[in-house]
Amino acid sequence: MYHDFNYKMTLATSLRAQWMLDDVLREDQDLDFSRHFLPESLARTAVVASLDGDEQRILNQISAHQYLSIFAIVEEFILPFLIDHSRTALHDDDDWRVRALLNFATEEAKHIHLFKRFHAAFVRGFPVECRVIGPSEAIGAKVLSHDPLAVGLVILMIEWMSQSHYLGSIRDDRDLDPLFKSLLRHHWMEEAQHAKLDTLIVEKLGAGLSDKKIDRVIDEFFEIGSFLDEGLCQQAHFNMDALEQIIGRVLPNRADIISQQHQAARWTYIGSGMVHERFKATLEGLSPRAAERIAEAAPLFA
Ligand SMILES: [Fe+2]
Ligand SMILES: [Fe+2]
Repeated sequence: MYHDFNYKMTLATSLRAQWMLDDVLREDQDLDFSRHFLPESLARTAVVASLDGDEQRILNQISAHQYLSIFAIVEEFILPFLIDHSRTALHDDDDWRVRALLNFATEEAKHIHLFKRFHAAFVRGFPVECRVIGPSEAIGAKVLSHDPLAVGLVILMIEWMSQSHYLGSIRDDRDLDPLFKSLLRHHWMEEAQHAKLDTLIVEKLGAGLSDKKIDRVIDEFFEIGSFLDEGLCQQAHFNMDALEQIIGRVLPNRADIISQQHQAARWTYIGSGMVHERFKATLEGLSPRAAERIAEAAPLFA
């Protein structure tokens, strides 16, 4: 498949684009809880008609707490995947590849640190505890038990989705917290290079595989997707518990809101990556049948 990047160029761009944690959020900085945190394209809270404006903002913030938690969980399985893959690069005498992959891993470790720092700021300013699915080690172990190419494709989908998350935050005309906007922007700045490196990883893992083998890999891609989706469903219940605790009433249409918010999460954490043109192009290069199967499933996550 044609593309115009390689390990050397991508490493150089990565090193120029790097930022420090304090550029995004200092440890003593507080989030502005009078504002929305996530763009409406992700949170889909402005359409929940049974909530008033303040309650919609609180649900938006709970959805942002979910964002910090889910990204911390996924980055925690991306990191060991990269370390394992970097080890295989030590033997092939390509210094640019080794350095680019190790730099990629270092940046993901920094992202975990950043998401935890935002999470701490959230907990400091939010009136109730928001429960989170987990533990992250168990989720990571389950994902990593799958074929490395299936895991690589899931990670590639996640890298590209961070672009549509950033674009959503600049298109949103509501009063978004500038620190959250900055989080989405800085994350994408580095993910843009990760997506290229992950494309190279997927191409390497997929080289020379038979159609039958790739079909099995796509089965495993869907197994990982279903597993993550079950977690998102459970998380939607936890989110509603937190909302009801704050507003002090049980919502009569609780099940409807959970279902609507679960669908918003499906789009945020799965669908927005599945339909990304660059992700689809990599799938086409791997196997047109793989691209077709994933395109057929995409409407479920819209
Ligand atoms: Fe990341
Ligand atoms: Fe990444």
